[in-house]
Amino acid sequence: MEQQKKTILSGVQPSGQLTIGNYLGALRNWDMLQDEYDCLYCVVDLHAITVRQNPAELRRRTLETLAIYIACGLDPQKNTLFVQSHVPAHAELSWVLGCYTMFGELSRMTQFKDKSLKNAQNVNAGLFTYPVLMAADILLYQADLVPVGIDQKQHIELARDIAERFNAAYSPTFTVPEPYMPKAGAKIMSLSEPEKKMSKSDDNPGAAIYLNDSRDDIIRKFKRAVTDSEMLIKYDTDRMGIANLMNIYSCFTGKDHSEIEREFDGKGYAEFKLAVGEACADGLKPIQEKFAMLLENKDELEKIMISGAERANYLARKTLSKVYRKVGFYQVKS
Ligand code: TYM
Repeated sequence: MEQQKKTILSGVQPSGQLTIGNYLGALRNWDMLQDEYDCLYCVVDLHAITVRQNPAELRRRTLETLAIYIACGLDPQKNTLFVQSHVPAHAELSWVLGCYTMFGELSRMTQFKDKSLKNAQNVNAGLFTYPVLMAADILLYQADLVPVGIDQKQHIELARDIAERFNAAYSPTFTVPEPYMPKAGAKIMSLSEPEKKMSKSDDNPGAAIYLNDSRDDIIRKFKRAVTDSEMLIKYDTDRMGIANLMNIYSCFTGKDHSEIEREFDGKGYAEFKLAVGEACADGLKPIQEKFAMLLENKDELEKIMISGAERANYLARKTLSKVYRKVGFYQVKS
């Protein structure tokens, strides 16, 4: 009864090595939803070029990101996994939606402001219209839910506004999507500057735990994580270093904050950091093993990409032709 299922869409940019932020904020929740929903997950390579990419690396990371999706538990039989540039309707709808998005709205996007500061020498138009393309990703598939970390919430709110505006101007065309954010893990912070989010594009490799970091690296990075001098393992959002480590530990062990406080009552930061590192390394191990296995069979990954794009193209075309008809583009029967 596939038609009755609600639809989910989400994506990750292949713009760097994925971190535990991407995993805990997004990917980890995706596989929990695969039985209840019709799920589409794309590797958003069009978005990635808003920042300069090395072409060979972008190609490699696109394949690796697809492999990570599967290694994190997404079954390619149950989920539609595809690459954004394999479905031209994303770029096509993005143009149309851009004409229903205001300059002022895009200027208010915090990610645009942050990225413009970080890439001051390359504040390109794509960086500015990035959220419109993201709205197209979501609206093309009539997605009901979009599972993401907190940093993407503002973009989803804009996608909702664009959908509502278009629906009001014509007639109901798009499903208005809802964000879906995990209770724990929606915002994993940097290990070196805990007031900043952990990011795959951070210049300091010690700030993030990458999904393919070795056990030793993981434990070493947690050991060096910035905390404070209070020596108290108690959840307090004013002490982001410790709060972040507690969140990460909670995500990997399933223990809540008060259980963690009891477990480490009277114990030191060194012991706690080691426990966090071990829990994280243990949690990532099966993903790393599966990832390595999947990459040995590139043909199989490409087959998954092809069949994912086939279904995505079919669904996306249906929405796009509806949109073209509504806005008044001349259509001829071929
Ligand atoms: P991206 O590639 O930056 O991140 C992918 C997903 O990981 C989440 N995330 C985090 N969650 C918690 N803590 C963190 N430190 C952290 N860092 C990243 C993000 O919220 C995201 O869910 N614009 C999107 C990609 C995108 C998309 C879409 C997402 C393009 N089209 C359509 C959903 C639907 C992005 O840059 O994600």
